Amino acid sequence: MNQRKRYAIVGTGGRAGLYIEALTTTYAAVGELVALCDLSQTRMAWYNTQLAARLDLAPLPTYPADAFERMIQETRPDTVIVATMDSTHHDYITRAMTLGCDVITEKPMTTDLAKLRAIFAAIDATGRSLRVTFNYRYAPAYTRLRELIMAGVVGRPLLVDFSWLLDTSHGADYFRRWHREKANSGGLLVHKATHHFDLVNWWIGSYPRSVFALGSLSFYGKENAAARGEEYAYHRYTNEPAAAQDPFALSLTSQDALKGLYLDAEAETGYLRDRNVFGEPITIEDTMTVTARYANGALLSYCLVA
Ligand SMILES: NC(=O)c1ccc[n+]([C@@H]2O[C@H](COP(=O)([O-])OP(=O)(O)OC[C@H]3O[C@@H](n4cnc5c(N)ncnc54)[C@H](O)[C@@H]3O)[C@@H](O)[C@H]2O)c1
Repeated sequence: MNQRKRYAIVGTGGRAGLYIEALTTTYAAVGELVALCDLSQTRMAWYNTQLAARLDLAPLPTYPADAFERMIQETRPDTVIVATMDSTHHDYITRAMTLGCDVITEKPMTTDLAKLRAIFAAIDATGRSLRVTFNYRYAPAYTRLRELIMAGVVGRPLLVDFSWLLDTSHGADYFRRWHREKANSGGLLVHKATHHFDLVNWWIGSYPRSVFALGSLSFYGKENAAARGEEYAYHRYTNEPAAAQDPFALSLTSQDALKGLYLDAEAETGYLRDRNVFGEPITIEDTMTVTARYANGALLSYCLVA
């Protein structure tokens, strides 16, 4: 009898690659990937081509986003892994639970309070389990810090001073694609800082009770570039000769995966992965600060600079 747990993935962009890889190699004995679902058939097909070429695997069944229910009925996953754009997580979490599945969702769980309430209502109504992938906890140094604090090595934590600085490669990437619009990502205090707030909560074993935050768009975006006297005529980087010397540029022809997952799929969904970070629209902040008081009395001083 096959005892392997069955998984389906919705959202087959870059992040999904880690789950596809893990479930078809390291964890293949205990987990079985049974289906993929996405807005883009090209992206799902790209992963199937990789699985055939590297592991000689038969193609996984693929379903368009509007066939999500049918995917669950036909392939009967135990758990659905949600790796779509942040603002859509709640939709797949609640629908998967209603159809009897547990869910593993990518961080952030969701992007606003109404969606959060819908998720908790679905958990209450169905009794299904939801796990949010806070993988930063497993970085060895962060795990060790939790162990040391829990062991009392640093005494009672009174204040946490947490600063996170993003560089022009990883950091700029949030300003090239869907993350740069707050409606999609909730902004970096949700999309990125969710990892950091989870770490602090976990490290000190408490939750914030009062929170105050400020943020501004100070560096990226058209207005900031214009104020510095910079002008950019190109709205995307790929195949743009003038972008050749631009340190913020990303060319979608520079890696097979970038071309296969994004450039080749543009005609299908219109998703541009390489927009100019000094273009429009950018509605998220790049410079953020948070002050919080925790239930256990500890204070937090946090900043995120992109
Ligand atoms: N845990 C981590 O450290 C980590 C790292 C990177 C990304 N992530 C998370 O993973 C998720 C995906 O990020 P990514 O970098 O792969 O982005 P991506 O843009 O590469 O992929 C997103 C995928 O979702 C699909 N999609 C968008 N809206 C959809 C919808 N309504 N229905 C079905 N599919 C839809 C897109 O077609 C695309 O294939 C995000 O929530 C992100 O926060 C987490």
